[in-house]
Order: sequence, then C-alpha cells, then structure tokens
Amino acid sequence: MSSLRVFVTRKIFPEALDLLTPHAQLEVWPEEQPPSPQVFKEKAAGAHGLLTNVMDRVDQRLLDAAPELKAVSQISVGLDNVDLAEATRRGIPVGNTQGVLAKATADLGFGLLLDAARRISQGDRFVRAGNWQMAYHPMHWLGAEVNGATLGIIGLGQIGLEMAKRAMGFDMKVIYHSRTRKPDLETRYGLEFAEKDTLLSSADFISLHLPLTPETRHYIGEVELRSMKTTAVLINLARGAVVDPNALYTALNEGWIQAAGLDVTDPEPIPADDPLLTLDNLVISPHIGSASVDSRRATCMLAARNLVAGLRGERMEHCANPEVYQALGI
Ligand code: DGY
Repeated sequence: MSSLRVFVTRKIFPEALDLLTPHAQLEVWPEEQPPSPQVFKEKAAGAHGLLTNVMDRVDQRLLDAAPELKAVSQISVGLDNVDLAEATRRGIPVGNTQGVLAKATADLGFGLLLDAARRISQGDRFVRAGNWQMAYHPMHWLGAEVNGATLGIIGLGQIGLEMAKRAMGFDMKVIYHSRTRKPDLETRYGLEFAEKDTLLSSADFISLHLPLTPETRHYIGEVELRSMKTTAVLINLARGAVVDPNALYTALNEGWIQAAGLDVTDPEPIPADDPLLTLDNLVISPHIGSASVDSRRATCMLAARNLVAGLRGERMEHCANPEVYQALGI
C-alpha cells in the first residue's frame, strides 16, 4: 500500500477514485457541505495530495498547515480559490481541468441566454403560480429576438469560443473582447474584435468568460451597465464577483438593461433574501455550467490523472503553474 495520503474534498465519480487508489491512501470527505476551513486544514496537514474544487480555499494558511503537500488538483478550470503564486513559490504543481467542460458550459450559457431573452423561467413561475388567466394575447410576454442579434463575448477562451459557435447556429453576429486579439479565430469563425466600450454599447447579448482576478473584480459595474443598450441581456458564466451585484440589481430594477442570466453569484450560494432574487427579469442557475454527466465525469477523471502525475513527480496533463517543473527538473 502506498504511503502517500490524499484528501478528496467532496464525493466524486467512483471511477476517478479508482484511478487514485493504487497511488495513495484516500480520504474522501463524505458530507454534502464542504469541510469547514479548520477541518480542511486538519485534513490537509497529513496529506501529500489534495483534490479540491471551487469552494475550497487553498491559501497561504492552508499551505502552511500542509508541509508534505506535493500536488493540488482542482476539479475546475477557474482557480480563484487557490493562491497560485504561493503554491508556485513552494514548488507545488496545481492542476486544473482545461479542455473537458467548455462545451457543456456553453450549452448552459446558451440556455440562460435563451431563457433570459424569451422569459422562459419567468413564464414558468407565472404559470405555476396560477396566474395564466388570459389566453394568447399578441402583446403579452414579448421578449428579445435572439436570431440575427449581436452577441458580445468578453474573454475568448474555450468556453467563449463555444458560445460563439452556438451563436452561429442562430445567425448571430459575434464580436469579442479579450486581452489579446485572436486573428486566427477571427478568420476561422468570422468573429470581430471590439474594444470593451464598443462591445458594451453595441451588443444585444453580452456574455462574460473572464477569470476572477483582482483586476476583473466588478469588471461590470454601474458605468458598464449604464453604457449597455436598454434592451441588452447580460450573461455571466465566469465568477459572480466579475459583476457588481448592487449595480446589477439597480440596472435590472430600473431598466438600464432588459434582463440577465447568471450561473454564478457573489456570494455562492446566494442568500435566499438577496434582493436579486426579487427580480423577474433575472434567471439564475446554481453554478451548474459544467454539470452534464459526461462533462463532470471527464472533469473528475482529468483531475484524478493530474493528481496521480503530481504525486509521482511527473508533469500533469493540465498544470496552471508549469513553472514549478523547472525547479523540480521535470
Ligand atoms: C470552472 O471550471 O471553473 C467551473 O466554474 C466549475 O467550477
């Protein structure tokens, strides 16, 4: 039996655990709620590997408590819960799950876009509440036309690109903004680069695909929301804090924009008494972008393979801080 120990912070697909079993003694957190920070610290104290997700804070204090840690592998692309610089300083590779969840996440994103545009969830709430008293009326329940509209994508990574591909099926014009231009994708998919201001003021649908960093916190705030069309629909699949929630509430409540669809909130879970939940022109899903069975299975398998590599001192398939390999000589 291996002398290495791994703490898995949540139940995952059994076949992913099977991959890990020959390489370490596993402890899998059995509860549905995450371990408290104190319990996580205690579990990490004796661990050589951690299999984490977005709700687990891997910060300096956690790393201080885990002197034997050789690798962290996260079941997600976003790593805003991990102090990557600190892990790098300590020579600890941090894996993430690029490449296996973009399509599923864009499917959900497009679902939110259609829902917010055509008021599907709002209509569902209306019907279930017994309010559907009047038959078909030509002027009721009008929403935004998706077909032929302009989609503005902010952050053209794998998920942003999958959103663009789906938009093409709806004959949408796709513009994008990102830190670096992607001329090859512009040519291949007919995308147009736009400066942030231009994108915000000209897109009918704005879809956010940015990592959360100190620079992108409240990337969409009052100024940005006021610069959008009053008919605009905002979609956030990135992280809740990329959008200022107070500004979003006012924008939706006062009609600066038409509607929004969020798969992420700040905080998560969103409290039941959050003012955003009183708005009819907002649809929220509970951070389920990648939650198709196939995508989540593939994500867990990749995270397990990354961790095995990290424990064995080999290169991970997807490592967010590959600079550690230089120091490790691999
Ligand atoms: C990701 O991969 O970052 C998703 O948001 C799941 O956490």
